[in-house]
Amino acid sequence: MNRIRTAVIGTGFMGRVHLEALRRVENVDVVEIAATSADKAKAAAAGYNVLNATGDWRDVMADPSIDAVHVTTPNVSHYEIAKAALEAGKHVLCEKPLAMTVAQAQELTELVMAKKLRGGLCHNLRYYPMVQQMRRMREAGDFGDILVVQGTYSQDWMLYESDWNWRVDPLVSGHSRVMADIGSHFFDMAEHVTGLKVTDVCSDLQIFWPTRKQPKDGGESFSGKLGGASETVDTKVVTEDFGATLFRMGRARGTMTASQVSAGRKNGLVLEIYGTKGGATWRQECPEELWLGHRDAPNQILLKDPSLLDEKARAFADYPGGHAEGYPDTHKQLFRRFYASIADSALTPDYPVFADGLRQMKMLDAELTSHKNRAWVSVPA
Ligand SMILES: NC(=O)c1ccc[n+]([C@@H]2O[C@H](COP(=O)([O-])OP(=O)(O)OC[C@H]3O[C@@H](n4cnc5c(N)ncnc54)[C@H](O)[C@@H]3O)[C@@H](O)[C@H]2O)c1
Repeated sequence: MNRIRTAVIGTGFMGRVHLEALRRVENVDVVEIAATSADKAKAAAAGYNVLNATGDWRDVMADPSIDAVHVTTPNVSHYEIAKAALEAGKHVLCEKPLAMTVAQAQELTELVMAKKLRGGLCHNLRYYPMVQQMRRMREAGDFGDILVVQGTYSQDWMLYESDWNWRVDPLVSGHSRVMADIGSHFFDMAEHVTGLKVTDVCSDLQIFWPTRKQPKDGGESFSGKLGGASETVDTKVVTEDFGATLFRMGRARGTMTASQVSAGRKNGLVLEIYGTKGGATWRQECPEELWLGHRDAPNQILLKDPSLLDEKARAFADYPGGHAEGYPDTHKQLFRRFYASIADSALTPDYPVFADGLRQMKMLDAELTSHKNRAWVSVPA
């Protein structure tokens, strides 16, 4: 099989996660890294043994030998970079959210189809083995008809007034913060696992810190928790620290919260589903366990072990039982499938695509409108 040549744009938290995961995908070579300066790109390229480095992502688009790009920059640039890549004939693996607006996401979704290229979206959290197990058990009817879907995505890294990140700036991040940043992962997973679509939402958002102390020298994601910020300026905050959404999935009903101010919760994504026959709960902070709830028998904890998983879920568990697979493995699983679909143009994507990103943007819009109007809002199909 021909090897696929790819480039990674952005060298922050996600850039490094993508670079590491790409080394675990068999048919791919990372041939260029783009950062905000040539020096930063060169440092990353040296560390990851990548030949080319540039301080301008446009150089990547101008190289016809590059087949695909990974967009790992802050949200505001996703649309422009993804569009340029598609126009240059390159496949795109974009971090979430796909774009800043529904219109931009719609345009990218249409463009990727018109160009007959692959457009993957990094809702990687679907690919924990035990999330896949929950999905396959639901498909097999083990839980019966789904009645209730509950959960949260709770973190604590923005708890203090002094916590800052580009995500607070709506010009860089968008009009929503926690619902866009982490609530979208919850909804992507909830729909993926249940097979149901969210039809209506009723949301309440809250800003606990109307101003935050913005460091004059910026800072990458999560770096604020390590302290050391120098001078700060008081900056007005217009995006939510916390959000709660009631939702309907046809007959099923659900609730979720998303928070960046929940002390002690580091990456607390929890998905609970309850059906007419049984229930299940998965927690990202204990990703190897799936809780199975029964009404007329003792509940169970299923520990990840490929030999105990549904055959289709097993394809996401590469290591034997007791050998934990976590967050970095979810990227590997997603990227592996993305590149398989580039190598074989006949394959139907079995990973989140741009249309899923467009759906998340529509859902987000509905949540923001609901909060503003203090009313239920339908999510367009
Ligand atoms: N899928 C996930 O689990 C997950 C987790 C975290 C972040 N994300 C997404 O990844 C993206 C990046 O987030 P992050 O946490 O890595 O942020 P980050 O601040 O850690 O890194 C962003 C990097 O992009 C660089 N950058 C900015 N503009 C650039 C440009 N024009 N060209 C090249 N580089 C540029 C910055 O210098 C920085 O190094 C966001 O869209 C975010 O929503 C996804």
